[in-house]
Amino acid sequence: ENEKRLAQALERQHTLLTEYRSLGGDQYPQKVREVLRGLGLKEGEEDKPINTLSGGQKKLIGLAQLLLSKPDVLLLDEPDNHLDLAGKQYLERFIQSYPGAVVIVSHDRYLLDAVVTHIAELDAGILTTFSGDYSSFILDKQQRMARQDELYHVQQRQIARIEVAIKRYALWAKTYDSEKFAKRAKAIQNRLDHMDKLERPLLERRRMDLKLHGWRGSQKVLEFRHVGKSFGQRKVLENVSFTLHHGERVGVIGPNGAGKSVLLRLALGTLIPDYGDVITGPSVTCGYYAQEHETLDPEQMVLDTVRLAGNMSESSAVALLGRYLFDYRMCSQKVKALSGGERSRLQLLLVVLSKANFLLLDEPTNNLDIASAEVLESALTEFEGTALIISHDRYFLDQVVDRLLVVQDGSVVSHPGGYSEWLTNG
Ligand SMILES: Nc1ncnc2c1ncn2[C@@H]1O[C@H](COP(=O)(O)OP(=O)(O)OP(=O)(O)O)[C@@H](O)[C@H]1O
Ligand SMILES: [Mg+2]
Repeated sequence: ENEKRLAQALERQHTLLTEYRSLGGDQYPQKVREVLRGLGLKEGEEDKPINTLSGGQKKLIGLAQLLLSKPDVLLLDEPDNHLDLAGKQYLERFIQSYPGAVVIVSHDRYLLDAVVTHIAELDAGILTTFSGDYSSFILDKQQRMARQDELYHVQQRQIARIEVAIKRYALWAKTYDSEKFAKRAKAIQNRLDHMDKLERPLLERRRMDLKLHGWRGSQKVLEFRHVGKSFGQRKVLENVSFTLHHGERVGVIGPNGAGKSVLLRLALGTLIPDYGDVITGPSVTCGYYAQEHETLDPEQMVLDTVRLAGNMSESSAVALLGRYLFDYRMCSQKVKALSGGERSRLQLLLVVLSKANFLLLDEPTNNLDIASAEVLESALTEFEGTALIISHDRYFLDQVVDRLLVVQDGSVVSHPGGYSEWLTNG
C-alpha cells in the first residue's frame, strides 16, 4: 500500500520537475519579470494587485501569460483594445512571429491588415471565409455586393416584363375567349413562380442613432491648478495645470499606465488630488464614460438601467434602446450578458440621457464596430458642449479633436491640433 503511494508520489514529482525545467527552472521568475518589462510594465508595478492596474496594463498581463505558456492555438478576443501605440506594435510583431495558429477578433483595420492571412466574417449567424487581409476582403465584398445588386435589378426588370406579358395574354384570352391565350398566360405565370428570385443585397446596415444635446454653460469648463496625485510610492501626476474652455474637443493620449484615467477621475471628482485644485465651472454637468464600464451594474436588467437613468416609462425605454440597436429580447437581459460592443452602446446611451454639457470619455471606441465609431465621431462633432476624450484610436482622434493633452512621466502638455499633426511635429 505504502509502496504504491511512494511510486505515485515519485512519478508526480518527476512530471512536475520536467514541467518546471521546461518552463525555465529557477530562471522562471526572472524570465517573467523580463517579459513584463519588455511589454512596458514599469519597475515596481509587477507586485501590484491586478485590480489597481490601468486598462492597458491588465491587457499586457494577459499577453504575458500567453507569451510564457506558448499554446498551439491562440484565441484573442479584441487584444488590441486599451493598448497604446507601443503595445499595439508589440502585439503585431508577437502575432506575426507566433509559430502556432492565431485566431483574432478585432475591429482595428490597421492591425488586421498587418497580421492576418484569412478573414472570417460572422453576420446574422452565417460565417463566410476569405483568403487575404482586411482591405482586400472589404474590396472583394463591395464588388460582390455591387454585382449582386446589379443582378438583382436586372432580374427585377425581367420580372416586370413577364408580368406585363401575363396581363396581356390574360386580357386577350378574355376578349377573344381563347383557350390558347389563357394557357399561355398560365404557362408564363408558372415560369415566374418557379424562377430563382435573387434577394436584394443589404448595402447599408442599420446604424445606431446617437445625438448628443449639449447646452452652453460656463465659459471656463475645467481648470487644474498645480495638481498632484500618487499611489504609494508611485507618483502618477505632478504639478499639472491646464484649462478647458466651452466648446473645445480635447483628446488625452499617453502610454499605458501614464495616468490618463486618473486624470479623468480627478476631473469628475471621484478621486481627490493629493495637492492642488480641480475646479469645474458653475453651470457644468458631467457625463462620464468609464473605460471598463465600471458605471454599469452587471446584475441590472438592460431595460431597468435605461428606465431608471432616464426616469421614463418602459415603452419609451424600449423605443430608445431600439435606436441603439437593442432588440426587445436584449432589453430583458442582464447587463453582464451583453457583448463588449453592446455595453459600449448602452454606456453611450446613458451619457446621452445624462444631458451633460461636459463629456468625459475614457476610450469610448474600444469594442465599438467601425460603423458605430463613425456615428460617435459625427455626434461629437455636432455636440454643443465640451468634451475631454481619452483614446488610442488615431483615426478617431483625427476626426474629432482640435487639441491634445499628452500625459507622460507625470506631466501633462497641451498641443494644438489632432493626432497626426502631433506625430509629425513631435
Ligand atoms: N486605485 C489605485 N491604486 C493604486 N494604483 C493605481 C490606482 N489607480 C491607478 N493606479 C496606477 O496609476 C497609474 C495610472 O493609471 P491610469 O489608469 O490612469 O493609466 P492610463 O493612462 O489610463 O492607462 P491605460 O492606457 O492603460 O488605460 C498606473 O500605474 C496604475 O497602476
Ligand atoms: Mg486608462
